[in-house]
Amino acid sequence: MKTAISKITSRRIWDSRGRPTVEVDVELANGIGGRGIAPAGASRGSNEAIDLRDGGSLLAGFGVQRALSNVDEIIAPALLGMDAMDQAAVDAILIALDGTPNKARLGGNATIATSMAVLNAAAAAAGMPLWRYLAGNQAVRLPLPEIQIFGGGAHAGRRTDIQDFLVMPLGAQSFDEALFMVAEVYRAAGDLMASLGRRAGVADEGGWWPDFTSNEEALEMLTRSIERAGYRHDQVAISLDIAASEFGRNGRYKPALESREFDTSEWLELMFGWLKRYPIVSVEDPVAEDDPEGMRAFTEAVGDSVQVIGDDFLVTSADRVNAAAARGQCNAVLLKPNQAGTITETYRTMEAAKKLGWGMIVSARSGESEDTTIVHLATGWNTGQLKVGSFSRSERMAKWNEGLRIEEQIGRSARFAGWSALPARSLA
Ligand code: PGA
Ligand code: ZN
Repeated sequence: MKTAISKITSRRIWDSRGRPTVEVDVELANGIGGRGIAPAGASRGSNEAIDLRDGGSLLAGFGVQRALSNVDEIIAPALLGMDAMDQAAVDAILIALDGTPNKARLGGNATIATSMAVLNAAAAAAGMPLWRYLAGNQAVRLPLPEIQIFGGGAHAGRRTDIQDFLVMPLGAQSFDEALFMVAEVYRAAGDLMASLGRRAGVADEGGWWPDFTSNEEALEMLTRSIERAGYRHDQVAISLDIAASEFGRNGRYKPALESREFDTSEWLELMFGWLKRYPIVSVEDPVAEDDPEGMRAFTEAVGDSVQVIGDDFLVTSADRVNAAAARGQCNAVLLKPNQAGTITETYRTMEAAKKLGWGMIVSARSGESEDTTIVHLATGWNTGQLKVGSFSRSERMAKWNEGLRIEEQIGRSARFAGWSALPARSLA
């Protein structure tokens, strides 16, 4: 069999924060190969796949030697000879070899790098770009990008409580135009910060460092940046990732910049005020992962007009998506392949969300690399949305630029998701 897996090589490489990560190369019998690189989160959901690290004092405990050994000694022997075109069978072996609900034995970093490498090898063997291999006969759209302008939270020394202040170029007609619009807003935001004497470099995902005294000041500055770039709010709107698990627990919210503590309903009231005053169309993890009642109340109150995304709350799990839908929590899911640990589990979560008419946002992590697989997943699976961090630093730009190449490959028939990517309910 020409597409049998004949060789698997792992190595330690370095991510965008200068931390070690897992890279896997898969070679097939026909000599064709594929690569996968594990990304890494900083504000991680407690139920996501385990990122296996060595601990100890070297490299602040972030070493990946154990994960690499698992690829070489456990994963490789089991996958040799398997057909790379059968992703579900390969991933089923990874899941069975691990045997835990959260990849604690092999490490989600070991399994996702392997799973992505097999997928990339299969597409190369089929002689197709990955997005086309994934799409088969299905129509695809270039995803609506969700792009960070100010970084915050765990990615910026907790300078603001809200983690991501993002924009969505809803009025664009193409992916190319979408990036053009965001480039103008990003630049306008940098100029505005500079003119106020507040420009202080960039945060982990490339967004401007949030030198603000309140969360609301950041919202104000973002709104002004959109206007300064010359766009109306129906052309470029705001999206927030609150990442509330970082400052909320047991129904108590302690945002550092708000100078008081909140219970869930008071915290929701504060956010409802933001939704009234600023052009916000999407909110991720508005409440902590341990606050299902808060998520239900938030979704019930605003889910008809706002996209409500579960990240830490849903951890790219199909079961959690279905359970949340049954309870009226969220109307969109963030899809982070390394939260699930394999491509197949990520795909199943996407399918569950698609059946529900939910929004689907394929997402990078705050620790990234030159790997562009997720751009192909977003396009080939037709998820409609893509979140990759900001509009600077090459681990981010590599992904946005890959989207431009895909749009060119599709050519004149290329469609851009735009508004239509938001969940049906929030458009009603
Ligand atoms: P992380 O954050 O990659 O640091 O976990 C990204 C997000 O919360 O969306
Ligand atoms: Zn998030």
